[in-house]
Amino acid sequence: MEKVYIFDTTLRDAEQVPGCQLNTVEKIEVARQLEKLGVDVIEAGFPVSSPGDFKSVVEISRAVTRPTICALTRAVKRDIEVAAEALKHARRGRIHTGIGTSPYHIREKLKSTPEEVIRRAVEAVKYARQFVDDVEFYAEDAGRTGEEFLARVVEAVIKAGATVVNIPDTTGYCLPDEYGAKIAYLMHHVPNVDRVILSTHCHNDLGMATANTLAAVRNGARQVEVTINGLGERAGNTALEEVVMAIACHKNLAYELGINTRELSRTSRLVSTLMRVPVQPNKAIVGRNAFAHSSGIHQDGVLKSRETYEIIDPGEVGVDESSIILTARSGRAALKHHLKALGYLPGKQELDILYRKFLELADKKKDVTTRDLEVLVGDEASRGDRYIHLEALQVTCGATTIPTATVRVRQGEESATATAHGNGPIDAAFNAIKSITGRQIHLEEYLVQAITRGSDDLGKVHVQVSHGGRAYYGFAANVDTVSASVEAFLDAVTKITLNDARHEHAL
Ligand code: KIV
Ligand code: ZN
Repeated sequence: MEKVYIFDTTLRDAEQVPGCQLNTVEKIEVARQLEKLGVDVIEAGFPVSSPGDFKSVVEISRAVTRPTICALTRAVKRDIEVAAEALKHARRGRIHTGIGTSPYHIREKLKSTPEEVIRRAVEAVKYARQFVDDVEFYAEDAGRTGEEFLARVVEAVIKAGATVVNIPDTTGYCLPDEYGAKIAYLMHHVPNVDRVILSTHCHNDLGMATANTLAAVRNGARQVEVTINGLGERAGNTALEEVVMAIACHKNLAYELGINTRELSRTSRLVSTLMRVPVQPNKAIVGRNAFAHSSGIHQDGVLKSRETYEIIDPGEVGVDESSIILTARSGRAALKHHLKALGYLPGKQELDILYRKFLELADKKKDVTTRDLEVLVGDEASRGDRYIHLEALQVTCGATTIPTATVRVRQGEESATATAHGNGPIDAAFNAIKSITGRQIHLEEYLVQAITRGSDDLGKVHVQVSHGGRAYYGFAANVDTVSASVEAFLDAVTKITLNDARHEHAL
């Protein structure tokens, strides 16, 4: 099997996106998780761009030992010197230098000529080789660079000492067959191409990044530049998890990857949390719905045999199990599955009655919860009322006020009240609930959506929290977004108490 190297650029291409900035401690946490995941190269930053980036490359080089640590530069001597300095502590350091090669870049951005660009490319690679043995060259906007000129550039940088040559589709312009053909052209026309690794670096402006990356691999590229959750400049970069699982699922693509796929979900959550970018629910591999089945036909199939509607075993990517969502489209099989999980095994007739009741409820409620099922089977008395209800909520906030929330909740016969401060009214209310439960609960994801439009519209809130190493989801809708947020948080907290061995003492 031929090895395909995984080059992760979450800490450079994704981190440069406004809003995704991380501090050095957070970057080290991500880098350690990437090492655990098994990536071959971590692009840790662009050291000349800021003292913070410089420091992060230094600290990541110290903290992470197995993967190669890579630092980005332009084809500028000063950039290369600063990158070399930042990489001093890396066990294996790589300088990633390059220059634009497309007519747009040569004429408009660089105001230069093709010959001058080749000269600068060669000079940069030779200079970088004076500091490190491993030098990667990128031909920026290679996606829109003519094949003949690109081949000349690649030939020249190989001669100058590059070890890896990156062919970025910087603007996400290419189609898969085009990008694959570009790599094939280089593989067949560039002398000594076998001395280097050709690398892909695809952007997702047309939603083609993963397809383009795979097309390039099938045509000879042996390094893929990717990011976690596909984050990156504009529409993002190729998602690591997608390429890895596409190769893992298709056994005919017999490439060796060093990735521990069971760490994919954890890595995705960590990056999403630290970069404060929620993962879209339907995101391939790592989205909340990637292993959730909601149509009755699919649920029935999955319950008979998982493979009917799933190509990946969720455990393989670190997800506990597939979920069968109870909605008005669910069938008897799904209802029975959930009832069984609650320890309730109805006979056929009883199931029919429960199913009818369930459909009535699902039509009104959209999302039917475990608690609803308990009520449905009349199990209320024996189980006690474990649902935590919001009884009262009062918040104070404003430009000159410390955000404060007072929350009163009820669980069965017991009620409790707490007041807390926070970064805003919602944070304050969450803190008050946390103090009532006395549990370690971390908010991982928070998403508000307006259902239709207008300021009096229903706000739909999803939260994801973690507790005891497990993820829990909460959902609520309310015209008042703060109330919806608190109710969603309580929904997740209720699930924690239901799953917790100590749930009887939640309050
Ligand atoms: O998209 C791009 O071309 C890049 C290079 C700097 C590699 O990010
Ligand atoms: Zn890029």
